[in-house]
Amino acid sequence: MENRKTISGFSKLSKRGKIKWIVENFFRDPELVMKDLISYWHHDEEQQRILDGFSENTISNYHMPFGVAPNFVIDGETYCIPMVIEESSVVAAASSAGKFWMSRGGFNTQVLGTTKIGQVHFKWTGMPARLYYFFPEIQKKLLADAISVTANMVKRGGGITGIELLDFTDREPDLYQLKVSFETCDSMGANFINTVLEQFASSLKQYFITNDSLTDKEKDVKIIMSILSNYTPECLVRAEVQCPVGELGNFSGGMDAWQFAEKFRMAVKIAHLDPFRATTHNKGIFNGIDAVVLATGNDFRAIEACGHTYAAKTGTYQSLSHCTVEDDIFRFWLEMPLAVGTIGGLTSLHPIAKRSLELLGNPGAEKLMRIIAAVGLAQNFAALRSLVTTGIQQGHMRMHLLNVLNHLQASEHEMKEAIHFFSNRVVSFSHVREFLDKLRLG
Ligand code: MEV
Repeated sequence: MENRKTISGFSKLSKRGKIKWIVENFFRDPELVMKDLISYWHHDEEQQRILDGFSENTISNYHMPFGVAPNFVIDGETYCIPMVIEESSVVAAASSAGKFWMSRGGFNTQVLGTTKIGQVHFKWTGMPARLYYFFPEIQKKLLADAISVTANMVKRGGGITGIELLDFTDREPDLYQLKVSFETCDSMGANFINTVLEQFASSLKQYFITNDSLTDKEKDVKIIMSILSNYTPECLVRAEVQCPVGELGNFSGGMDAWQFAEKFRMAVKIAHLDPFRATTHNKGIFNGIDAVVLATGNDFRAIEACGHTYAAKTGTYQSLSHCTVEDDIFRFWLEMPLAVGTIGGLTSLHPIAKRSLELLGNPGAEKLMRIIAAVGLAQNFAALRSLVTTGIQQGHMRMHLLNVLNHLQASEHEMKEAIHFFSNRVVSFSHVREFLDKLRLG
C-alpha cells in the first residue's frame, strides 16, 4: 500500500504546496488547517521572506509571547527587559524581583572573561614528543594561513588568542586536539570560529604532507572534525544582589527578614547538595536567561548546554547561584558562562530581536551578558522567594486561571467573577468550567 506520509522532493514544493501535502495527509480537516496555518503568515511579504529564511521547509510562523519586565537596575542603569517565553508567571516574577531589588541597590555585575573555544580533533601516528617538537612551527603556519579569515575580526579587536596541543593518546590511540581560544568581540562568533578551525585543519594536513623531515608514516594525519565548543567556562559573568538582612522586609505568614534569609540560604544550599533539586533550581534560572536570549536573537540551546556543563564542573550537578547570610548581610549571586552576541546571526535579522536590543539601548556583547545574568538571578530570587514563603502555586494558579478562562472563552465580566471566586480556592480546569457553566446559566 502506498505510504502517503512519506514524500520525496518536499523541499522543492512551494510553501502552499508544502502545506497542501501536509494538511491532506496528516489532518482530518485539511481546509481548516490550511487556513489556520496561512493565517499566521506575516501580512508583510518582505518580513515573511526574512522569517522563512531563518530555517528550511517553513510553512508558517509559531507565535510566542513577547513580554517585558520593567524596573531592572543593573550597574546603576535602568532597563526594561524584553522576554520571550511561553510559561505563565515568569515575566511577572522577573518584574517583581526587578522592582524588589531596584530599591535595594539593584543588580551589580562583573564580566570575568570573554574567551570562546574551538577544537580540531585529529589522529596522528607517531611519538607524541615528536608532535610537540613540531608544534611551534605548526602553530606559526596555522596563524599565518588564517590571516585572511581573521583580518576583519582582528580589526575589531578580536581574533585568535591561543592554540594548545592536547594529547588524548592515553584514552584513545593516536588522538590529539588543537584547542583554540578566541576573542569574538560583540559577535557570538560561531561562524568565525568554525571558519578558522576548518582553515586550521587544512593547514595542519598540508604541514604534515609537505614536511620533508617526517617519515611517510608520520605524514599521515587524519582530521576527525573541526568545530567550536559550546562549553565556554572563561566567557563568564557574575551578577549579584545584596542588602542588610533587615532591609529584606517582612513576608507573608508573619515571616520576618531573618527567618526568610535563612530559609532562602537553605534553599540555595539544597540545590548545591542534591542534583534533583539543582536541576529544577537551575531550570528556574534558565526561565529568565532563555527568555532574554531568545528575545535578543541568541542561541538558547548553546547557552543552556554550556550552563548545565558549568553547573556540573565539580563532577556533581549543582546550583549556578550562591547565597550567604553573614554579618547581617544577605548576599545572593549567580556566576555562569554566557556566550552571546549583539551583532551578526539573528540579532540583526530578526525584526523583533532588533527591537529587543534597541529596547536595551543596543548593548555590546559584554553588557548583554551582564543584563542576562541579572535577569537569571532575579528569576531565581523570585522562584525561591515564592517557594520558601507562599509556595509556588499561588502565583502560578492565578496565571493558570487566566489561561483556562481564555481557553473557555470567558467574557471580561466572567473573568472578573472567576478571579474573585478563585482568589482563595484551588484552581483546576474542571472547577473553572463548572464555575463558568453555573455563571452562564444564571
Ligand atoms: C518553574 O518553571 C521554575 C521553578 O520550579 C524553579 C524552582 O523550583 O526554583 C519554580
